[in-house]
Parts: sequence; structure tokens; C-alpha cells
Amino acid sequence: MKPINVGLLGLGTVGGGTLTVLRRNEVEITRRAGRAIRVKVAAVRNLEKAQSLYAGEDIKITTNPMDVVENPDIDTVVELIGGTDLAKSLVLKAIANGKHVVTANKALLAIHGNEIFAAAQAKGVMVAFEAAVAGGIPIIKAVREGLTANRIEWIAGIINGTTNFILTEMRDKGLAFDTVLAEAQRLGYAEADPTFDIEGVDAAHKLTILSAIAFGIPMQFDKAYTEGISKLTKEDIQYAEELGYRIKLLGITKRTAQGIELRVHPTLIPYRRLIANVEGVMNAVLVKGDAVGVTLYYGRGAGAEPTASAVVADLVDVTRMHTADPENRVPHLAFQPDALSNAPILPMSEVCTAYYLRIRAFDKPGVLADMTRILADLEISIDAMIQKEPDEGQEQVDIIILTHETVEKFINQAISKIEALATISGKVTKLRLETLG
Ligand code: NDP
Ligand code: HSE
Repeated sequence: MKPINVGLLGLGTVGGGTLTVLRRNEVEITRRAGRAIRVKVAAVRNLEKAQSLYAGEDIKITTNPMDVVENPDIDTVVELIGGTDLAKSLVLKAIANGKHVVTANKALLAIHGNEIFAAAQAKGVMVAFEAAVAGGIPIIKAVREGLTANRIEWIAGIINGTTNFILTEMRDKGLAFDTVLAEAQRLGYAEADPTFDIEGVDAAHKLTILSAIAFGIPMQFDKAYTEGISKLTKEDIQYAEELGYRIKLLGITKRTAQGIELRVHPTLIPYRRLIANVEGVMNAVLVKGDAVGVTLYYGRGAGAEPTASAVVADLVDVTRMHTADPENRVPHLAFQPDALSNAPILPMSEVCTAYYLRIRAFDKPGVLADMTRILADLEISIDAMIQKEPDEGQEQVDIIILTHETVEKFINQAISKIEALATISGKVTKLRLETLG
């Protein structure tokens, strides 16, 4: 059968990895796909660098991405340049030209996915995006196809490799934040703008995609709550450990009677949970379905070949379905496009979870009583509490309170009242806690 001709937009970490994997496993991939998958053309910015790296390859390298998306010989375009502006116009142009698209670009899909999938649907082409969430873990396939019998209840995952790598290296090796971030960049894990990783934006992009395919809702990145790891202190990491918890940057999306929770934030997780022990660049995603219960998916969340593994899997899928009737393909967002739900995304103030509070208080009689009264008045129940010894010559102590589940607006009211007490110094630190039972 005639080979499938592929055009790559980008030959960086993921583009380069994709080429390597296609080359190394060519025979196996062809046996699986039923026909050869050939990269014919690739677009880059720096022509000289790419030509020297890929000298001897039978690939046309260009600095004009239009040479890829307008090329009549190309069947499938693989978008690996990143960003949301140029990438969007190139993907829409490829779709308009009747080409299938594979992309690893979670930012593009979280922000413009609704428009891109509608265009692909109208044109009868596929847009595949396994690499956009959790690197090499086939989580899109699992949620969209493997768990299709289930009513999904919630998903919680470590879905950013860079931040998990940073948290692990800082804790285990005592390295400075900036040192570890530089290493994550060197290893090709970080986004072009690493604040996307650190501030939880990249995880929120991925969570937006997961939420859409789990609950059959449109992409609503603008409604995601996003909090990163930049304000996390080593005291909080240490106190959490003392109480039996690990802090991880989690993406959580949950179906509730009131609407859908969609949130990314540092989260205390009981140390005994498998996911609390996921370290380094590894990602892990828990999915709770009503029939299957909790399932766990684990693997490398970033880097050249793990991500290429997902890109090539999509290329094989698209190749196998190339001649299939569009109506017989798996819908882009798992649910039929005319069957999407309009369930609202809950504002953070309505989210229900448990909390870790760190309060800096003067070591005086009645301090604890004042705080517990405030919590009791708001019907917030305390799960655990510790008061640290004051440091030598200090009048202030850290008090740590773990609460049972409550609605976020109530904990915010309690914090305002606690901060107003004369015996309290500075701001209360609030972190969320999930038992993931
Ligand atoms: P890189 O920065 O390593 O590579 C980007 C590539 O795109 C480079 O080859 C670059 O060319 C090319 N490029 C950028 N802008 C243009 C342009 N205007 N015209 C032509 N070529 C252009 O990025 P990654 O490979 O790390 O990431 C690519 C995508 O994959 C992003 O969407 C990212 O979020 C996603 N992703 C990345 C993962 C990872 O682990 N790195 C994992 C999962 C997803 P040049 O080299 O000449 O500058
Ligand atoms: N910057 C991302 C991460 C790449 O660290 O997880 C994988 O999507």
C-alpha cells in the first residue's frame, strides 16, 4: 500500500524524538500501521542547525511552514512548534487542505480546541493529541476508549513533569529551585516559557483536555483554577511530611451535583497513596469510573522519546483510520459533537475539599481556643493539629491545622477571621488536601 506522507512542523525536542522513534522502529511500526509512515518535509526556524543535525536524511527541511501545510503530497501534518497563534493558523490551514493533524500542543487545544475540532469535524479529518497530556502515558486513549463504559466521577493527576522533577530534586538533593529548573530545561522537559510549568498553566491546559473527554463538555480553560508551586515553602513541605503527607502539584477535575470542578494546585496527599510516591519527571493519573473503580496510569510525562511514543501512536492510529468513514471514527472529545453537556464549571469558592492551614501565632494562652472557635462557628471540623516549639528567642510559633472537607468559601471566611486576631502574625498559609480514597 502507498506510504502515508507526513509533514513535521518543528524538529525540536519532540519533533527530533519523533523522527528518531520512526526511524528506529520503522519495521515494527509499518507492521502495525499496515503501511509505511514517511516524513517527507519538516519546518524549522534555524535551517542551518536542522540541516547539520539531519544531514543525510531524505527529508526536505524548510523555514516556511506553508511548505508543509500547503504541500499536496502530505497526508498528515504533525504540529510540534508550540504556541497558540502560528500553530492555530497552521493547524486550521492543514485541516482546510484536508490533512489529518497530530499535535502535542496542549495550550493550543485547551484554548482553541473547540474551534479546531469543529473545523476538523466539518472537513472529515482527524486531529489526534495523545502527546498533549502526560507525555508518553496513553491517557487520552484510556479515558476516551478504554473507559468508555463508565460514568467518570473524577480524575486527579500529576500531569506536569517539570514541577514534579523540581519538587523531587529540591526535597531529595536539597538543590535550589533555579538549579533544578535549569536542569529540567536542559533535559527538554520545560515549556518554551517555563512559567507555564511553574505556575500550573501547563497542567491546567492538560486538565482542561482531560475534563472535556471525561465529562463530554467543551474545552473551558478560562474557567480553570490555576495555582503553581512558586509560593510553596520548604517549611510547608516539611510539616506535611511530618503529618504523613507529600505535596504534589495536582490537576483535579470532578463531577459534582452542582457542576464540574477544574483545578490545579499544590496538594497534600497521604504518603501511603501510590501517587504520592511518583517522583522526578514521572506523571501519574488516577481516574475514577463508576464501573471500574479507581485506575492508575503511570509513566514519563515529558522528554523527547516518551512524548514521541505518543505522537507516533497517534500517527499509527490516523494511518489505520485513514480510509475509514469519518462517522466510524472515535469522536475527538470522546462524546458525539452534538451530545456535549453544558454542565457548569464551579468557581473555586464552591469547591469542596480538606485543608492544611499554617498559622504564625504568638505563644500566648487562648490562641488555640480563638482559632478553633472560629472554625467551629463555620462548621469546619478539625482533623489534626500541631503546635511547633518556638525557635530560640522567638515569641511566635507555627500552628498547623488539618481540616476535614468543607466548602472553600467557608475556609476563606475562617482565614479572614483568624488573620484579624491580635494574636496572629501575618497571613495564614492555605493548601488543599485530598485523600484520593
Ligand atoms: P522545542 O522548542 O524543542 O521545538 C520547537 C520546534 O519548532 C523547533 O524545531 C523550532 O525550530 C520549531 N519552530 C518554532 N517556531 C517555528 C516557526 N515559526 N516556524 C518554523 N519552525 C518553528 O519544543 P518541544 O519539542 O519541547 O515542544 C513542542 C510542542 O510539544 C509544544 O507544544 C510542547 O508544549 C509540546 N510538548 C512538549 C513536551 C516535551 O517534553 N518537550 C512533552 C509534551 C508536549 P528551531 O529549532 O529552528 O528553533
Ligand atoms: N513541560 C511539560 C511538562 C512537557 O513538564 O510536563 C510535557 O507536556
